[in-house]
Amino acid sequence: MKLADRVAVVTGAGSGIGRAIACAFAREGATVIVNDLAVARSRETVDAMGAAGVRARAVEADVAESRAVRAMFAEVEREFGRVDVLVNNAGIGSSGGPASEETAKRHEARIGELMAGGAIKTHWDVTERMTDETWHRMIAVHLNGTFFCTREALRLMKPGGAIVNLSSVAALTGLETVPHYSAAKGGILSFTRAVAREVASRGIRVNAICPGYVDTPMTQPMSALMKRLTVSRTPLHRMGVPDDIARTALFLASDDGSFFTGQWLSPNGGLVMQ
Ligand SMILES: NC(=O)c1ccc[n+]([C@@H]2O[C@H](COP(=O)([O-])OP(=O)(O)OC[C@H]3O[C@@H](n4cnc5c(N)ncnc54)[C@H](O)[C@@H]3O)[C@@H](O)[C@H]2O)c1
Repeated sequence: MKLADRVAVVTGAGSGIGRAIACAFAREGATVIVNDLAVARSRETVDAMGAAGVRARAVEADVAESRAVRAMFAEVEREFGRVDVLVNNAGIGSSGGPASEETAKRHEARIGELMAGGAIKTHWDVTERMTDETWHRMIAVHLNGTFFCTREALRLMKPGGAIVNLSSVAALTGLETVPHYSAAKGGILSFTRAVAREVASRGIRVNAICPGYVDTPMTQPMSALMKRLTVSRTPLHRMGVPDDIARTALFLASDDGSFFTGQWLSPNGGLVMQ
């Protein structure tokens, strides 16, 4: 039991990677606070934990809202008195608008042009078409959410505490179709390093995970062609599954990762090598 008697908060744990992390932590003995936007999703995760779920709590909060985050951690403090592990996982792949569908269409057009061997005539034009709202929501959920939750968790953390932030390969290479997502994930990496240095003297570790493409509801909007192309560029020749990332999170959150701080690990099948 790698997380016996630890209290862990996992945000966005009602789906995909967050659900796999919450379930892995529960199997390893943690009491897991399963956060999501809608409590029904969090409850499904608690149900998926089986017997290990008796210690878990489903908590609804939008991590982009500092007041909601404060209320969530106040509830955790009342009930458990501390936080040992925080996983800032909540995230969105797109922050809405017709722009995302248009981008998918342009992606396919560009692939066609590339395969025909001619010049690329269809341009992305993502940044120039992006609205303020689309930009702000992306930054709010990922970067503000990571800050709000980290701030509250640090107030309840003792030596031995661990924070794991979900970044992305988008932070390492930049992804041309999602400049706002890439910027948010890059910000999370820098925030990870700064806070890791800040809280090291308190015996708290802070690390990040930069997954490659993982098969979750977030990557469902990718067309079959886009998925085939991604797999063909991935040396291990598959997309990731949520458990690939959960095992990495367990390593960083538990004593197995006791000499890691301010680092990122990238389970990506070899798509990005650095
Ligand atoms: N799937 C991938 O290929 C991939 C790759 C790299 C990084 N990531 C990152 O991993 C994390 C999890 O992604 P996933 O693929 O499991 O996505 P997902 O869509 O399956 O799950 C994300 C969860 O976060 C929740 N959420 C969204 N906004 C929230 C908010 N404001 N407050 C609380 N919860 C919120 C959603 O309701 C959902 O349950 C994200 O941070 C994502 O950016 C995913």
